[in-house]
Parts: sequence; C-alpha cells; structure tokens
Amino acid sequence: MPEKSNSNPNLPTISLFAGAAIGDKGLEAAGFRLELHNELESDRSGLISANFPQSRVISGNILDRETEIIAIGQKLQRREEVFALVATPPCQGMSPNGLGTLLKNYRLGRRPKLDQRNRLILPALRIAAALQPKWVILENVPRMSNTAIEDEAGTLVRILDLIPQYLGIDYVGEAKVVEFADYGIPQCRQRLITIYSRLPEARELLEAGGSFIPEPTHQKLGNNGLANWVTVRQAIGNFPPLDAKTAKTARDNRIPLHRVPVLDSKKYEWIRHTPENQSAFNNQCVNPECGFDGNPNHGTSRDSAGINRARQDTPLYCLKCGSLLPRPFAINKDGTIRIMKGYTSAYKRMSWDMPAPTLTRNLSFACSDRKIHPVQNRVLSLAEACQLQSISDFDYKWELISAREGKIQKASDRLIREAIGESIPPRFMQILGQHLLSISNREVIADSNKPVQLQLFSEEYLHSLSKASL
Ligand SMILES: C[S@@+](CC[C@H](N)C(=O)[O-])C[C@H]1O[C@@H](n2cnc3c(N)ncnc32)[C@H](O)[C@@H]1O
Repeated sequence: MPEKSNSNPNLPTISLFAGAAIGDKGLEAAGFRLELHNELESDRSGLISANFPQSRVISGNILDRETEIIAIGQKLQRREEVFALVATPPCQGMSPNGLGTLLKNYRLGRRPKLDQRNRLILPALRIAAALQPKWVILENVPRMSNTAIEDEAGTLVRILDLIPQYLGIDYVGEAKVVEFADYGIPQCRQRLITIYSRLPEARELLEAGGSFIPEPTHQKLGNNGLANWVTVRQAIGNFPPLDAKTAKTARDNRIPLHRVPVLDSKKYEWIRHTPENQSAFNNQCVNPECGFDGNPNHGTSRDSAGINRARQDTPLYCLKCGSLLPRPFAINKDGTIRIMKGYTSAYKRMSWDMPAPTLTRNLSFACSDRKIHPVQNRVLSLAEACQLQSISDFDYKWELISAREGKIQKASDRLIREAIGESIPPRFMQILGQHLLSISNREVIADSNKPVQLQLFSEEYLHSLSKASL
C-alpha cells in the first residue's frame, strides 16, 4: 500500500533542484512538510504541483529566482523556522578524479577549464545561509567529493570544503557515500549524502561519535544480523511477462505503466539469445547444427595512448561454422558489417538474484548499460522501474498541473523515465527523515511552544544576492 502523507506543519521543508520531487515523497512520509520547491523544467514543476498541492512551486532557473526563494522562505519563517532544506543539484559536470593535480596546477597559476554547472551549488548554499534551516541535506554522485569549483572570489575550492564556509560555525556536518541497496532498495545505487545541522542535539550526537546517516538495514549477504539485499526477482518477479517483439505483447493494460518500447527485429534477435547476466556481445553460435560456444568474448584492450577501449576485432561470425553470431553489429557503407562500438555492459541482461543495477534516464534503451530484463526479451517497464526505485511504495501521481492553465495532464513516458532515473529513492529519504527527526525530536516538540526567532535580511543584502554571479 502506498504511504499516505502525514506531514507536520512544524517541519517546513524547502527542496531545491527538486526534479519531480520523488525523493521528497519519502521525506513527506517521515513527517516533513514540503512548502517550497524550485525546479528549472516546467514539466517537472508540473509534476511537483500535482504531488505537493500545498507547496509553492517556483519554476525556473535558481540563478534568476534566488531572491524570491529567500523571500518566500523568510515568509515561512514567520510561522515556523525552516526545518530542512534539501538540495539535489545536477551531477553531469562532476569530475571523476584528478582533484589533487587540479589543485596543484591551479596553485601554479595554470587555470583549468572548469565545468560551470558544478557552481549551481553556490545559490543553494547562499539560500541555506540566508534561511538557516535546522537541517541541510545535499545529495549528489560520489564524484562530488572529488570536485572543486571556483568560489565567488574566484578561488578554486573543493565543494565539500565550501559548504561549512557558507553555513558558518553554528553548523556541524558530515558527508558519506551511501549504497541504497543497504536500506532495502532493490537497486545498487551509490550517492554522496551530505548533511549539516545547527541543532545542539545534532552537534552532541556527532561529538559522541554518532552519525546523521542512518544505520544500514540490509547487507549483500545478510551478515551481522542485517537482512539480505532485496533482489530483482523479489521486487518484480511477479509482474506479468511482456515481450518487446510486437506492440500488443509489449504492454499489459491491466497494470498502469507496465509497457516497454518495441525492439526492431535485429536487436530483438541479439537479446533473445542472451543468457541472464550476460551481454549480447558475447553471444555464441545459434546454428543448431553447430552450437560452438568457444568464440572469443568481447572485451577491451589498451590503445597506443594506454586508454582502455572496446575491442573492434571481436568476431561476428562463428569461428567453427562461419554463421553470423547474434551479436550487436553496425553496417558499413559498403554493406559489410562490423561489431558495434560499445562495451559488454551494453545489451546486457540484469541478474535475477541481485538488486538491479543503477537505473538511469536511459532505462528504456536496450543499448545502454545493463538495461535488459533478466530473462524476458525487453527492457524494464516503467512500472517495474517505479518498483525498483521504491516509488510504488508512495502515493506518487504521474500527472502534471500546468502552471499557466492549471489543467491536469498525463506525464509522457519520456518524462517519467527521466524523472525516475534522476530521483533519489523515496524509501531511503523516508528512513533518513525519520533518523533526523529522532535526533531533533526534543527540539521539534519544544519549538512548537516557542515564538520563532526570525532571521531577516536587508533589502540591500537580498539585492546583492540577486546580482551574485554564478
Ligand atoms: C538530480 S535532479 C533532482 C531529482 C530529485 N531530487 C528527485 O528525487 O526527484 C536535479 C534537477 O535539477 C534541475 N536543475 C538543473 N539546473 C537547474 C537550475 N539552474 N535551476 C533550477 N533547477 C535546476 C534539473 O532540471 C533536475 O530536475
């Protein structure tokens, strides 16, 4: 049964870079009351409006709307201090490694080319500094811990070092890479969770060696008294089968969103011959009179620059009988064929007995990393993806309210797929929210009887914020 909202007016919460606010559903179930959202894309903002009717949704670029967000946040504070500010900035620009070299070169005066998208965290930190919420919750890819940006003075600083500079000495915090499968989500998905608080209870907890990140409930092999990771089979094993061969077999109208794209006949053949947890790039001979299974697998080799690249010489024809192997190929201009460019993680099936691999915006594309159903000839349906991201456990509506006309529309499959792929599993956010509440509980109860101390900012200060450049 999906969770019902039991949000508490004493826990006003703001969500920045909110996406479709899927993770926020978990916080809501924990009791947080989502009162203000900001999101760039209008269709995602429409989803937020449909799912959080009580929230003020500011649709637009945070850089243009910063002053307005602070002003609305301050209005909220007249009733109750902001309990939590959640910010989940986009992760596309986060660097995989090389922070040490980057900082060294920078100090030597060599100005590196930096991805400006990473600086989007600055307006979020300015908003947090202005509103002083009790909790600041940041989510991003683990690579964020290795990413540096130029601060407002133009100095290169690691993002994680910048956060306490903005929040000030009243805050204490920690950053930790979390594996969501360790919390019973049927999916391996790692994210960096950074949490700061200005509550005395929170400081005491950290000083006593405690953590703002809840203890895992699950473990890969179920050791130490924890439950086993939840597998794909347990999560979606009882969905009715689908088959991507025809439009009729690719959907089951009895279950909302249980539908998949139809595959063209070539791709269908490659996938049809692929065993569980294997890639179509390693398919073996399917000639019934041959069945040779010793054709070399696909793989990688180092090029002259030492970079690992997918091999181009992987055989497409059986070494024993010469028949075409059902492996992904591309057609050359002269009509001959060659092995398709790609790694063995492409056209690969998931495993039944593990959590799903990380769901991404590309979850409906067979050619993307490990997107094929463990045994059926298709990718995951949107309904299964909702289950694997724990969205089905919550009351999330895939409809959007358009800001202009106020009309309710159905979300497109593209919007649903992208929103799922970018979201935080709401089940994790619920567990996190409950943990933070257990730390701050005494304070929350005490606060409801106490007049709120307002931290208002001058017009001049707000004006300077709006002019602060990215
Ligand atoms: C990782 S997603 C957030 C997912 C969300 N936490 C959830 O659980 O559904 C990041 C969002 O930031 C939005 N975004 C990117 N640039 C932005 C900007 N300049 N201003 C406001 N939002 C922005 C993107 O459109 C995207 O929806």
